[in-house]
Amino acid sequence: MKLFALVLVACVGCRGSGRAEDRELAEFRDAYPESASPTGVVRSFDLVAAPTTLPLVDGKQLEVWAYNGQVPGPTLRVKLGETIRVRFTNKLPQETTIHWHGVRLPNAMDGVPHITQKPVQPGETFTYEFTPKDAGTFWFHPHVRASEQVERGLYGVLVVEDPTPPPYSRELVWVVDDWLLKDGAIYPEFNTRHDLAMDGRWGNAITINGRTDTVVKVQPGERLRIRMLNSSNGRVYAPDFGELDARIIAVDGLYLRAPIDVRGFELAPGNRIDVDVTFDKSAETPFEVIDRFFAQRPNTLARFAVEGALVTTPSFPSPARATVPRWADALSAPIAHTFTLDVKSGGPFGISWTIDGMAFMGHEHAMPPAATLTRGQFVRLHFTNASPRIHPIHTHGMFFRLLARNGQPVDEPFFRDTVLIHAREEIDVGVVPTDAGTWMLHCHILEHAEAGMMTTIDVVEPR
Ligand code: C2O
Ligand code: CU
Ligand code: CU
Repeated sequence: MKLFALVLVACVGCRGSGRAEDRELAEFRDAYPESASPTGVVRSFDLVAAPTTLPLVDGKQLEVWAYNGQVPGPTLRVKLGETIRVRFTNKLPQETTIHWHGVRLPNAMDGVPHITQKPVQPGETFTYEFTPKDAGTFWFHPHVRASEQVERGLYGVLVVEDPTPPPYSRELVWVVDDWLLKDGAIYPEFNTRHDLAMDGRWGNAITINGRTDTVVKVQPGERLRIRMLNSSNGRVYAPDFGELDARIIAVDGLYLRAPIDVRGFELAPGNRIDVDVTFDKSAETPFEVIDRFFAQRPNTLARFAVEGALVTTPSFPSPARATVPRWADALSAPIAHTFTLDVKSGGPFGISWTIDGMAFMGHEHAMPPAATLTRGQFVRLHFTNASPRIHPIHTHGMFFRLLARNGQPVDEPFFRDTVLIHAREEIDVGVVPTDAGTWMLHCHILEHAEAGMMTTIDVVEPR
């Protein structure tokens, strides 16, 4: 495991200067590896994106766009250290790319059209190959016209397994999505004035793995790991497991310092949580998982039917990450950049979502980076949401830790790649970028992103 030797050596000279950034970097140094450690094993997959018809939502046939003929697409599984090679073929009527959300990988494999690669035209093939640096729950989706392509069904989960996976009775992958349907079809207008002015496209059917009627049969005593992903364009979920003993062990792929209660976690578009849930031996009632993002309008996401013979509950401590820095005095570090999130009229949609006053006019019109960061150094970034809407802000190629909301310190015991910023809220985050390149930073409400709320940050080598 290669850590931040280079940067730490460079820091000997600045010892004693007492800079908060240096203390935060020292605290970070064992949090996660700087580089991948490839074992030499290559896992190859073929992915084809194409229109198809599938029994989805309530089981009626629905015309969708799918990876390998399924929605969600196939769950790709590799072990940490294995190299993933995906031969991708585009059979859509539009150009596309695949972005590997949350994965720390070489910039050229990030799937951002015109910035890291040419878009993959209909009929063309492109091979993605990289070795993930982190075990965890990640996902993949197009980065071209995402508000349409993701909504039509193009997304899938990438699981990078621990070298020794914890011995859960079973593992489930739950992709939570919502669909805007009209007359049994995907509502064919995208980026509507309403979606753009509000919090994106919120659907009228909420599904787990494409179905509204999810019932999971479990045996009393079972202990499950549920990998949950929110692939919705705009909807936020606050999953509530009710009476069940359920805890979050990972956020956005990475284990927490220690597990936390699921209740109250805002699963915004792009976010993942891994939930550790045990079914009590005496439990006989059916259980429901309910979304309570709007307390007055709960949505049932899934049900558990407990039945069958008692099984022995696997007994092991919930997996955790040894080092998640507290960065207790990070708020005394200078702000490297303030990103101002706002809205203005004009632009191709009549309304533009902006970062620092600028609307990103498509990946093909490169704009200067909003900020330039140095690889291997700690920075504090500030976000001011000047708008009355919510923005789940996502960074490519790096994890950050939330430091404060509206100036109040928060000690989230985990890293993230996506954080929900509420209306008119300000937040601070700390980040140590580990990979040089041009990385996107954008709102994961896909309509906001499409209408301009995207920018880039450049990560450069230390001088
Ligand atoms: Cu899932 Cu650019 O994001
Ligand atoms: Cu991403
Ligand atoms: Cu937004």
